[in-house]
Amino acid sequence: MRQFGLIGFPLGHSFSKKYFTEKFERENIVARYDLYELSDISEFEVLKNKPELCGLNVTIPYKEKVIQYLDELDDTAGQIGAVNVIRFIRKNDGALRLKGYNSDAIGFESSIKPLLKAHHKKALILGTGGASKAIDYILRKNGIETTFVSRHSKPGLLTYDQLDKTILDNNLVIVNASPVGTFPHSDECPNIPYQFLTDKHLLYDVVYNPAETLFLKNGKKQGAEAVNGEGMLIGQAVAAWKIWNL
Ligand SMILES: NC(=O)c1ccc[n+]([C@@H]2O[C@H](COP(=O)([O-])OP(=O)(O)OC[C@H]3O[C@@H](n4cnc5c(N)ncnc54)[C@H](OP(=O)(O)O)[C@@H]3O)[C@@H](O)[C@H]2O)c1
Repeated sequence: MRQFGLIGFPLGHSFSKKYFTEKFERENIVARYDLYELSDISEFEVLKNKPELCGLNVTIPYKEKVIQYLDELDDTAGQIGAVNVIRFIRKNDGALRLKGYNSDAIGFESSIKPLLKAHHKKALILGTGGASKAIDYILRKNGIETTFVSRHSKPGLLTYDQLDKTILDNNLVIVNASPVGTFPHSDECPNIPYQFLTDKHLLYDVVYNPAETLFLKNGKKQGAEAVNGEGMLIGQAVAAWKIWNL
């Protein structure tokens, strides 16, 4: 039976396990999807010995650390420097090659592209983790100039306390690429001056639980367009399935 799965740590509730298990049942696909909670990335070696494993998703904290175990990266994953999908390629002679992809980027692009307008020329990306790298890559690919906002002062980045009316006027796309506002912390939101948002702004939150975060609520109050990360989540899963079946 073809096997798929997710590596990460810790792994609690998993969207991917539910999504793929339901898909396999609904579409009569003979396959299974398992969770592999690895307390250290070196445990990845053991998974290479599973002859029926065809593909893996990768989540926090291994999207970058797993790269050292792969034979090859697709162009996008290589440029982003993070992998969230691995394809197990088995040759007729039994040899195994592992190729890494980034379907977070694909999911983000398919969900934000229909919302982009001509005046969306510059973007702020809140957070500097793995998700922010895929988002930065896609925004720049679509001709949008990006600036990262971080809690830590670093050359080339803005900090939250530097954000003012001029910066918000100049950056009409704002993507929350941090976990701030995720359930059960639904009463929290990134520390930006929401009063300067307008109906020209597009707010995109990678968070999808709750469906409407405080970040998005605050944006909507100012007339901004506001969209959550559900489209990205489903888009990355759809793309992962296509990759495993290439
Ligand atoms: N919708 C989807 O399909 C999708 C896909 C991937 C990820 N995600 C979600 O995206 C979020 C980010 O993922 P990630 O892998 O990039 O996570 P991460 O590396 O843990 O965090 C991202 C960045 O957020 C900032 N941050 C973290 N805690 C913060 C806090 N308390 N206050 C302010 N900023 C904080 C940090 O940047 P600084 O230290 O520079 O401030 C951090 O580097 C997660 O919630 C993840 O579940 C969603």
